[in-house]
Amino acid sequence: VLINELSGLRVLEMRLRENLSLSEVIIVPGDSDKEPWIKNEMGKAAAMRLKQELTGHHVIAVTGGTTTASVAEMMTPGTKDQDLLFVPARGGLGEKVENQANTICSTMAAKARGKYRLLHLPDQLSKETYLSLMEEPGVKEVMELIHSASIVIHGIGDAKTMANRRNSSSAVLEKLEREKAVAEAFGYYFNQKGEVVHRVRTIGLQLNDLKHSDFIMAVAGGSSKAEAIAAFMKHGPKKVLVTDEGAANKLLSGT
Ligand code: G3H
Repeated sequence: VLINELSGLRVLEMRLRENLSLSEVIIVPGDSDKEPWIKNEMGKAAAMRLKQELTGHHVIAVTGGTTTASVAEMMTPGTKDQDLLFVPARGGLGEKVENQANTICSTMAAKARGKYRLLHLPDQLSKETYLSLMEEPGVKEVMELIHSASIVIHGIGDAKTMANRRNSSSAVLEKLEREKAVAEAFGYYFNQKGEVVHRVRTIGLQLNDLKHSDFIMAVAGGSSKAEAIAAFMKHGPKKVLVTDEGAANKLLSGT
């Protein structure tokens, strides 16, 4: 039974990889919406896949969220020839501390026995503050590291869920509704076609910067995220997706 189940998953992975034009898809059994522990399984699969990339020196940028937090928890120490530096992909997005990129980045570094650098920034920045912070030497230094990241690990969220979780203003909530936002990643909100309809102003990786990274891994699952995953993957960058059966089945059924 187990062998059949596994080969079923391999077929699902292949179909989803083609369907979303990704370079690689890893699917864990179950649906994390129904069984929350499945998120840990995604975390484990993502950490194992990530470790294959980690020989020599790497700067790894990570985003916030409960799913990337599971990846961090599942990281294990590397070998002596590794020199790993973890950085948050972007500054504050309005998340609780346990879901912030900074927290996840430091946990991941501790578990992998790597180093880390953090971005200490307030969440909602005015344009003036944003521009002057960008001139701070300490911020500039971390920004350069973030831009040099060869590996990026990120979550994908349902737009409404993320906007509510981050206590977004009613003006932002209305805008997202009006623009029919369905997905969120890196603080950017996307409509069904994968077009950016809103973004949170914070420093760190901008969407366009991603084309410079060699290895980009999205970790997102649960059937409720199917539409969000499809929308984000239309925008790209199209690399590696770690997801669960719940999201994969819904994505392939086209609903
Ligand atoms: O950007 C995406 C979100 O951070 C995903 O959050 O993993 O808690 O669903 P989540």
